[in-house]
Amino acid sequence: MRKFIVGNWKMNGTSRDLKEIEAIASAAQDYVSVDSALCVPATLIDRAVRQIGSFSIGGQDCHMLTEGAFTGCVSAEMLGDAGAVLTIVGHSERRTAQHECDIDICAKAEAAHAAGLHAIVCVGETLNERESGKALDVVLKQLGASLPDTAAGNWLCVAYEPVWAIGTGRVAGPDDVEEMHGAIRSALAQRFGEEGNAIRILYGGSMNGENAAQLLALDNVDGGLIGGASLSAAKFEPILAAAEALSK
Ligand code: 13P
Repeated sequence: MRKFIVGNWKMNGTSRDLKEIEAIASAAQDYVSVDSALCVPATLIDRAVRQIGSFSIGGQDCHMLTEGAFTGCVSAEMLGDAGAVLTIVGHSERRTAQHECDIDICAKAEAAHAAGLHAIVCVGETLNERESGKALDVVLKQLGASLPDTAAGNWLCVAYEPVWAIGTGRVAGPDDVEEMHGAIRSALAQRFGEEGNAIRILYGGSMNGENAAQLLALDNVDGGLIGGASLSAAKFEPILAAAEALSK
């Protein structure tokens, strides 16, 4: 399976940063065996797409409905209209701060699909849940309820992002990552049959140029969702290089 390396800029970036997006897109061209994308703030999608041409630009969330009285929200169709080809849904920062639940996230994934976008559906446990031995249960429950029945068919991937590893510099141990990705793979295969084996499972949480090779080499780690280390080409490119080396 081709590795999928996706940057998530979160609430970072203005027009001043278009040059950096361009540098990332240009660097990505050299890694022909890797799929890559950058999920930028909605305000930058249109300009980023115009500026960089063929590189995949995505959003970080979408509303589950196509239009209506939802002040401040952006629909999947609007993301697509701005030139996005994918969107993240269910990031833990939104599950927590915006109180999004699995049912919302499932509906958002379906909305993304209906708008022709690829969806990255995020799951992940808190530190408290991991320390109390509930990580597998929590993540598999999130997965079951956040994925729509139509999830097979190559329009969606899953991102496992342990909440305690996000932005902390603390990476999940290789055994824990392999155990979780293996459990997610089994659940996908059980629910979607052979097509469940084709759904990519990304790891996210303090992935960087130093640890990417080890993480991406683990069983069922089909890519990465990268926050801090995606903000510059200098930091993002070593992750692309690690993925490329593993594809050979
Ligand atoms: P960091 O790579 O900054 O830990 O963020 C991970 C993340 O939340 C990506 O969605």
